[in-house]
Amino acid sequence: MSLNENLRIARKQKNDEFYTQLSDIENELRHYIGHFAGKVVYCNCDDPRISNFFHYFSYNFERLGLKKLITACYRNQERDLFSRHDSERAIWLEYNGNSKGGRMPDVGDIGIREFEGDGDFRSEECIELLSQADIVVTNPPFSLFREYVAQLIQYGKKFLIVGSQNAVTYKEIFPLIKDNRMWLGVTPKGRDMLFDVPEGYAQELVATAKEGSAYRVVEGVIKGRLGNAAWFTNLDHKKRHEELILYKCYSPEEYPSYDNYDAINVDKIAEIPIDWDGAIGVPITFLDKHNPDQFEILGFSSLWDDGFKSHTFYGDFTEMRPDGTKTGMSGQKASGYPVLKGKSPKGNYLVRDEEEVYTLFRRIFIKRKRRSNQG
Ligand SMILES: C[S@@+](CC[C@H](N)C(=O)[O-])C[C@H]1O[C@@H](n2cnc3c(N)ncnc32)[C@H](O)[C@@H]1O
Repeated sequence: MSLNENLRIARKQKNDEFYTQLSDIENELRHYIGHFAGKVVYCNCDDPRISNFFHYFSYNFERLGLKKLITACYRNQERDLFSRHDSERAIWLEYNGNSKGGRMPDVGDIGIREFEGDGDFRSEECIELLSQADIVVTNPPFSLFREYVAQLIQYGKKFLIVGSQNAVTYKEIFPLIKDNRMWLGVTPKGRDMLFDVPEGYAQELVATAKEGSAYRVVEGVIKGRLGNAAWFTNLDHKKRHEELILYKCYSPEEYPSYDNYDAINVDKIAEIPIDWDGAIGVPITFLDKHNPDQFEILGFSSLWDDGFKSHTFYGDFTEMRPDGTKTGMSGQKASGYPVLKGKSPKGNYLVRDEEEVYTLFRRIFIKRKRRSNQG
């Protein structure tokens, strides 16, 4: 395995130790205030000694009208800034608000309990806590995101969690988005999010990565950066009901049909034609603007079958560079991508005899919903 590949994998595992900043939590949570009254909130990947999710909910307990806050922490055996505790046992904590009616959490009101096991969110002890919860809010380990979401769905929980925006393209996650069982939060997808990171990792970032790319220094503190973090939820929010204002009309020249999917191509969300009732392929950034009253999601240009299938494949095509020389690859690599007829305006293309086609970035396929006032 190459050094770069090793670094990439190590970095991926370290991303599991990215700690969410209070300002990011406040910015997102302010759009859901009405959802929390009388509810039990569970933060299950959160060491209360350092988690800003615990901080946010304990300090806003009365304002949100919470019934109970449960916070559980996973075993953490490294002794660094983020795990100064002496015990290797995981703990969980219950808070029912300030018993004296104050607005600040009182240490005496926080019940601290030890787990028998390590506090893994999949353990029986944690599932027992999960079953008491109405809403789960946290930033779970990115590497276990699929399993984490599957559990929330299995137990029918409401949730608001941080993940990688790439998760929308996962075979296990996209169908949930398509079926409106999960959607993006309010903070625009792809907005830079900075995270607190363990001291050792901060030093490693400075030594091995580029400032501005993998990390930033804010007031002398090294913060891990993820350009692709996103909030995922099944709590309704206002932005999800904002109508996308459309102004362009369909023309076959401007909106060609794909060669391999029964849909027209749109490169910019704002240019979705107002008068096209069939399937439309749009960039993944569409999910930030998706209003389920306005559009239906049909599928994704993927390798798996989500019901909206590619009908043409290019295994017997040859890939060419823009200068007309062969790259040595076949058109097999076009699988899972939308394809247009012709020569790419910028990059490589595929040929078979006289036929020329080229691939685009992955697309989500959508369809406008008819409205009563549109006949
Ligand atoms: C991305 S960090 C976020 C921490 C915290 N939720 C926050 O946002 O600041 C993910 C956390 O999940 C914990 N974790 C890793 N594996 C876990 C598991 N199987 N069960 C529960 N927590 C786990 C890690 O120790 C880490 O603290």
